[in-house]
Amino acid sequence: VFQQVASHPLAQQYQTLGLGSQIAIAIVGFISLSVAVNVAKQLLFKNPNEPPMVFHWFPFIGSTITYGMDPPKFFQENRAKFGDVFTFILLGKKTTVAVGPAGNDFILNGKLKDVNAEEIYTVLTTPVFGRDVVYDCPNAKLMEQKKFMKIALTTEAFRSYVPIIAGEVQSYFKRDPDFKGKSGIVDIPKKMAEITIFTASHALQGSAIRRKFDESLAALYHDLDMGFTPINFMLHWAPLPWNRKRDHAQRTVAKIYMDTIKERRAKGDADKELDIMKHLMNSSYKNGTPVPDHEVAHMMIALLMAGQHSSSSTGSWIMLRLAQNPRIVEELYQEQVKALGADLPPLAYEDLAKLPLNQAVVKETLRLHAPIHSIMRAVKQPMPVPGTKYVIPTTHTLLAAPGVSASDPSYFPNPGVWDPHRWQSDSVNAPTIVRNVVEEEEKVDYGYGLVSKGVASPYLPFGAGRHRCIGEHFANVQLQTIVAEIVRLFKLSNVDGGNTIIGTDYASLFSRPLEPAKIRWERRA
Ligand code: HEM
Repeated sequence: VFQQVASHPLAQQYQTLGLGSQIAIAIVGFISLSVAVNVAKQLLFKNPNEPPMVFHWFPFIGSTITYGMDPPKFFQENRAKFGDVFTFILLGKKTTVAVGPAGNDFILNGKLKDVNAEEIYTVLTTPVFGRDVVYDCPNAKLMEQKKFMKIALTTEAFRSYVPIIAGEVQSYFKRDPDFKGKSGIVDIPKKMAEITIFTASHALQGSAIRRKFDESLAALYHDLDMGFTPINFMLHWAPLPWNRKRDHAQRTVAKIYMDTIKERRAKGDADKELDIMKHLMNSSYKNGTPVPDHEVAHMMIALLMAGQHSSSSTGSWIMLRLAQNPRIVEELYQEQVKALGADLPPLAYEDLAKLPLNQAVVKETLRLHAPIHSIMRAVKQPMPVPGTKYVIPTTHTLLAAPGVSASDPSYFPNPGVWDPHRWQSDSVNAPTIVRNVVEEEEKVDYGYGLVSKGVASPYLPFGAGRHRCIGEHFANVQLQTIVAEIVRLFKLSNVDGGNTIIGTDYASLFSRPLEPAKIRWERRA
């Protein structure tokens, strides 16, 4: 056979070509063959017990590019084709998406023996946060760490945070050169990123750490951030410039925290601040071991990183939506005048509950612009999908996308319209599930306090299950305070006076507005 092939005229012609051409032809031949085998496998070998596979030409690449360019669009299109459960290839890995409330429940409330988060995320998070915390420890330890963080966020602590956050916002707008004068145009994501880190670091980590953000910490956090990119799911280990900077920044930031912890311990009772760092410094694990200083330091990094991206992106979207809807800015202002008095006294924690539209602006923005579009889990043992014949094998990764149900017309009329009034029950756009599912639902304690399972809720921007966000209340207080302070100071509008909204950048780990994202501000008289 070999002789016959070798004596074929085409083979003889091939041998007369130069080496470069021969290699090029061989590569094209190899790719064509693997494409053909890949297509044939998809068409001929369908496993009826596995979810349908999104068609793709190239092995390994699969649907990585179409997914990565616009994940929500990818989910919506394939849901329309296949239903709520389907599989696609993400960088060579079979990734099974399950959407809708049942899909969210299946993945996010999956049992510890079935699903695993740390196997997916540790490569990315451990070099940034540091050892022995979050995904670099057994899940039971993470649950204890979440408990420490959560119980530090008491009502008393929140009462102290609102004036801190309000004060940071006011001083930011006084000193920032882009807000000098009566009006101007500004690229809002950069500003919201700074406001978020100043407010969060001051409230959660104390004034000593906050002061360091004016000096060394801002640049170091920027370097840490560079390690937090999707490409590092594969290249986290590589000796690349951004990884070297990440590792140096991690060591330096951890040392800054550990030095601060020592100073604060030395101060003893004279330290009156109610931040999380102080609480963690005085916490012990169930087995009696006090939380070591390096773990406190690493949890501080984790908290600030977890909150920073999500809150800063949400804050930017809120400002962009307000600029798109100047009428709502006026309604927010009037809401404060009516509820708090025309002199607009300093904002207090209790005031936030008197401002339902202010709350709804945050809630509605998170419905359409949840910063975390994909939540992944490794599959530890074959998982039957309830109500189907599918069993998800351990070779697959699971992907939950709660944003899909949050923009589903069967739950939210006119889902694409940003309408904070929809959260009033008499609104035409009110969610069709009017009862407050979050309040009524089954609650469960994974070790860090009772949380609702979120089984029936189509709205889960803070996730569900054992990995649910512990920063939800803080993020709400932070964002509501920032919004309330900003509408006191400014009127906002789109630069061209129109009502368009910028697209979403999905290239980083957390989705955020494409930049530049400019808005116009005008100082109130
Ligand atoms: C987990 C969203 C702010 C700390 C999560 C998860 C989501 C989320 C969806 C679940 C991830 C998963 O299941 O894999 C958000 C949004 C925020 C926000 C939308 C702001 C608008 C914050 C803040 C903090 C924080 C301010 C800290 C103060 C955490 C922590 C976890 C978490 C510690 C737990 C991770 C785990 O258990 O695996 N967040 N978050 N988040 N978030 Fe947030």
